[in-house]
Amino acid sequence: MPEVHVIGHPLVQHKLTIMRKKSTSVAKFRTLLEEISMLMGYEVTRDMPLSVERIETPLMEMDAPVLEGKKVVVISILRAGDGILNGIMKLLPSARVGHIGLYRDPNTLEPVEYYFKVPGDMSDRDAIVVDPMLATGNSAAAAVAKIKATNPRSVKFCCLLCAPEGIAALHAAHPDVPIYTAAVDERLNDHGYILPGLGDAGDRMFGTK
Ligand code: URA
Repeated sequence: MPEVHVIGHPLVQHKLTIMRKKSTSVAKFRTLLEEISMLMGYEVTRDMPLSVERIETPLMEMDAPVLEGKKVVVISILRAGDGILNGIMKLLPSARVGHIGLYRDPNTLEPVEYYFKVPGDMSDRDAIVVDPMLATGNSAAAAVAKIKATNPRSVKFCCLLCAPEGIAALHAAHPDVPIYTAAVDERLNDHGYILPGLGDAGDRMFGTK
């Protein structure tokens, strides 16, 4: 069974509904994506290890919890992944950032990489791969394969919406990668769009339609 964490928090669900509406403006869509990504980031980072640091409050000393290591890299699948990246970076301002660009070859329909940049020291990092839409799962699976080749300590995948087909494809290729999402929609249409979905996440974020 794929490890899928559906973040059912009422704030996430309410914001997602506004994002789905075709009447929602580009500016509002962008703001909501950042807000929702912060809320999802809260769940994605729930198992981050803590250590203890001796600190001094104005009244006395204490052993206080701090994030251990903070070795996180957030990797955005271009271009819409940057919307989730912006929200998560508000929570983890010291996290390192990577980018991967893929396009779909119109003849083979296979993802082709055109950009890849991640930190040099990946082997002791926990990677959070972000892309709003897990549709066919082909790009996500190709991106995760490329990221795994850099030997990160762990990989998680965080998206806003999933199609069941995307979950199946990503899980088949990478059964060890947990998926965090705000909703699992019904299905894909013939053009690979998620139904009911929210349309093209990149176009809605950047106003490029
Ligand atoms: N990418 C999008 O932006 N929207 C979809 O519905 C599917 C893939």
